[in-house]
Amino acid sequence: MKNLIVAIDGPAGSGKSTIAKLLAKKYDLTYIDTGAMYRMITLYLLENNIDINDLKEVERVLNTVNLDMQGDKFYLDNVDVSTKIREKRINDNVSKVASIKIVRSNLVDLQRKISNNKDVILDGRDVGTVIFPNAQVKIFLIASPEERARRRYNEFLEKKTEITYDEVLKSIKERDHIDSTRDESPFVKADDAIELDSTNLTIEEVINFISKEIEKAKWTTHD
Ligand code: CDP
Repeated sequence: MKNLIVAIDGPAGSGKSTIAKLLAKKYDLTYIDTGAMYRMITLYLLENNIDINDLKEVERVLNTVNLDMQGDKFYLDNVDVSTKIREKRINDNVSKVASIKIVRSNLVDLQRKISNNKDVILDGRDVGTVIFPNAQVKIFLIASPEERARRRYNEFLEKKTEITYDEVLKSIKERDHIDSTRDESPFVKADDAIELDSTNLTIEEVINFISKEIEKAKWTTHD
């Protein structure tokens, strides 16, 4: 009996986390938000004024800091940082941190470890290409940059963050560029991933589409 692994990769604002959370509930899967881990490391480096070019120091941080996830809550050295990791300053720096080789290898190890022996759904940039190339379901969820910026802008408005739509669009495009052109496991579609464009789809439509893939895959795992 094999465990089920569902990989949802996609750019900022494509709807990955909303969709992954709903599917986790529907199919009783453990949800792992891989981006949150890069965000937590970024927060630690920023708050402790650590130069990201000082790789010895970055490595020391990776070996000492404790990352913990419980449902929607994220703990950095036992402190709840769930709100802080979504701040603009993290968005502005996370892609630089995520392009550091040692950061990636350390977090990929952790992501595999916490997925071990569980039925899981993970969202991120390299789930289907690097973390779990053998995932039974691989979705590459995309949407136009304008639609993604609109979604992110609305999230910022709800949190009362002062930011304009144009700033959000610019930051999303910058992150897309850094993520997809970095040397270490760049953000690309896995050859066998199914591409789904959510620009004009409702959440329910996306859920229905991916549900069919999960149900097909369940036959080859648990039954
Ligand atoms: O939610 P959003 O798509 O804005 O971002 P996220 O999934 O929280 O990821 C934040 C950043 O972490 C991304 O822009 C990537 O630079 C990095 N990341 C990555 O490199 N690999 C992953 N598996 C997940 C995130």
